[in-house]
Amino acid sequence: MTRAIYPGSFDPLTNGHLDVIERSARLFDEVIVAILTNPQKEPLFSVDERMDVLRRIVQPRLKNVRLDVFHGLLVDYAKKLQAQVIVRGIRAVSDYEYEFQMALMNRRLNPDIETVFMMPSESYSFLSSRLVKEVAQLGGSVKGLVPDLVEELLSKKLK
Ligand code: PNS
Repeated sequence: MTRAIYPGSFDPLTNGHLDVIERSARLFDEVIVAILTNPQKEPLFSVDERMDVLRRIVQPRLKNVRLDVFHGLLVDYAKKLQAQVIVRGIRAVSDYEYEFQMALMNRRLNPDIETVFMMPSESYSFLSSRLVKEVAQLGGSVKGLVPDLVEELLSKKLK
């Protein structure tokens, strides 16, 4: 039984995240999508709002995916949940350096936990939550880049 954690800010959930979640759910017995609560970051959506989006979009589709919130060190959280794998999405070479550093630091902190990089569909290779927020804030369309629910929530929040 392989349990994987897919950690992130998910502020907001994009179709690129969903793509990685779906791929992970096919590969691992159980996937825990875990939202980081980071007091240093000022998110657009609260943890409750982000959790609600995941609950409404991810949970009905994928039976082996669980949702959770975590704080502190990711490897400690993974150990607590007895997860063997951390999943991270890599979109382009530019992601690689930061992800490589994190993966090796996490390995140093706990060599029993393996990081697995997954590539989302190339149609999402340019997509990030940061750009989605920026485009939506400036009045551009994010249709097709985020679930319809997220699009609605973005337009309500940014009115
Ligand atoms: O979606 P993000 O913001 O790119 O996710 C980053 C995340 C949550 C994976 C990373 O910030 C993280 O793991 N934070 C937890 C604290 C931690 O373990 N830091 C050491 C990482 S080497």
